[in-house]
Amino acid sequence: MMDTLVSLCKRRGFIFQSSEIYGGLNSCWDYGPLGVELKNNIKRFWWRSMTQLRDDIVGIDASILMHPQVWVASGHVEQFTDPLVDCKSCKQRSRGDEVKDGKCPHCGSREITSPRLFNLMFKTHMGPVEDESAIVYLRPETAQGIYVNFQNVLNPSRQKLPFGIAQIGKAFRNEISPGNFIFRMREFEQMEMQFFVKPGTDMEWLDQWKTARLAWYGDLGLNPAKLRLHQHQNKELAHYAKDAYDIEYEFPFGWKELEGIHNRTDYDLSRHQKHSGKDLSYFDDEKNERYIPYIIETSAGVDRTLLTCLVDAYHEEEVRGEKRVVLKLHPRIAPMKAGIFPLVKRDGMPELARKVAHELRSHMPVFYDETGSVGRRYRRQDEAGTPFGITIDSQTLQDETVTIRDRDTMTQERAKISDLAGILQKRIYG
Ligand code: GAP
Repeated sequence: MMDTLVSLCKRRGFIFQSSEIYGGLNSCWDYGPLGVELKNNIKRFWWRSMTQLRDDIVGIDASILMHPQVWVASGHVEQFTDPLVDCKSCKQRSRGDEVKDGKCPHCGSREITSPRLFNLMFKTHMGPVEDESAIVYLRPETAQGIYVNFQNVLNPSRQKLPFGIAQIGKAFRNEISPGNFIFRMREFEQMEMQFFVKPGTDMEWLDQWKTARLAWYGDLGLNPAKLRLHQHQNKELAHYAKDAYDIEYEFPFGWKELEGIHNRTDYDLSRHQKHSGKDLSYFDDEKNERYIPYIIETSAGVDRTLLTCLVDAYHEEEVRGEKRVVLKLHPRIAPMKAGIFPLVKRDGMPELARKVAHELRSHMPVFYDETGSVGRRYRRQDEAGTPFGITIDSQTLQDETVTIRDRDTMTQERAKISDLAGILQKRIYG
C-alpha cells in the first residue's frame, strides 16, 4: 500500500523526492501544489486549536540556529545519540534497536559490529572559519527555542502559570535509518507546545494533555480505532522525561508514534538557568512563592501527521466494475475544496463555470477543469481528496442552479449558485 500511496502522491502533486533530477537525496522530500496546501491546513488547524481558541497558550517562532551552549545545557550534545551497528557482510548500517537476535536486519548476517553511539545532531559552522569554536547545530527539536525564551514571553504576554508556548518549525536529525516515505526524515517539521505548570500539578496536566491531544487527531478526521496511547517504559524514556506517552497510529507497517507527550519536569529550565546564569524561575505573587516551573510537552510531527492523514484517507472501491481511488480527507484539511466542471465545452457553460469558480475562490481554494469526460474529472478530484464537485449543465443556463457531488457518497443534489458558498462553507468548516 505504501508504494501505491507514494506513486499517487507524485502523480497528483502532493510529494516529490528532493532533488529528484539528480537521483534524489535520501530521506528528504518536497511538497508539491496539493501537498503544501494539505500541510498548511494541518498546521493551521493545530495552531488554531492550540493557540487562537485558548487564552492560556501563546505562540512564537524562534530561529533554527541557536547558541551552541543551548545543546550542551539541554543534554543533546551528550545524550542525543542512537546506537549504530555496521554489518560486515552487506555493509549496511542499522540502529541498535533494529537488530534482533544479533542479526543484521538487512541480510540476516551475524557478522555485525558492537553498537557505538552516534549523535543525531547535524553540525555546521557559523562564519568563515571552520574551527571548533564556530560549530553550531541545526536544531533537533523546536522545544529549546521555547525554553530559552520563557522569560521573554512571560512578561509581555502577562500570562500566569499554568500557561503554554507553542511553535511550529523545522527540525533536523541525522537519522541512521530514515524511511517509510515521510515517516522518518532527516529534515522535518514539528508542532510543539510547552505547558508550564506548578510542580506537583504536573501529573494531572500530563493526564489532561494526553486526552486532549488524542481527541485532536479524531477532530482531524482520523479513524479513532487506529489511534491509541502508549505509555513509555523506563528504558524508552528520553533523557529529559519523568513520564511520557506516545499517540500511536496503526500504519501499514505497524503501530508507530505520531506524537510524544512528555513530563519534562524542571529539567530544561533548571539546566538553562545553570548554564546561562540567568534566573528562569517563576514568582507566584498570589501565593508569594518562587519556583522553577515543570513542563508538560506535546510534540507532534507535521509530516508524520500528513502521512497519517493520507494513509487513513486512502480508499479503493469498485464502482460499476471499475476501480475508484479516493482520498477521503476531512474537508477541513483537503487541499482543494471543490472541483468546478462545465458539463461540455460549449453553449456558454465554460464561461459560466469560470464565473462560479472565480466567485468561490474568495471563500476557498477551488480547481477549474474542463478537459475529458465529467466522469474522469470527478475521478481526478477523488484522487486529490477534493470533497465536492460542482457541475454546470444545461439546466444551469436556465435556472442558475448547479449540481453538488459529494466525493464520499457520490450522491448529487441541485443548489442555487447564489447559495453555493454558504452551503460548502458549512459542510467544510462546520
Ligand atoms: N521535543 C520532543 C521531541 O522532539 P520526539 O518524540 O523525538 O520528541 C516528536 O519527536 C515528534 O516529532 C514525533 O512524534 C514525530 O511525529 C516527529 N519526528 C521525530 N523525528 C522525526 C523524523 N526523523 N522524521 C519525521 N518526524 C519526526
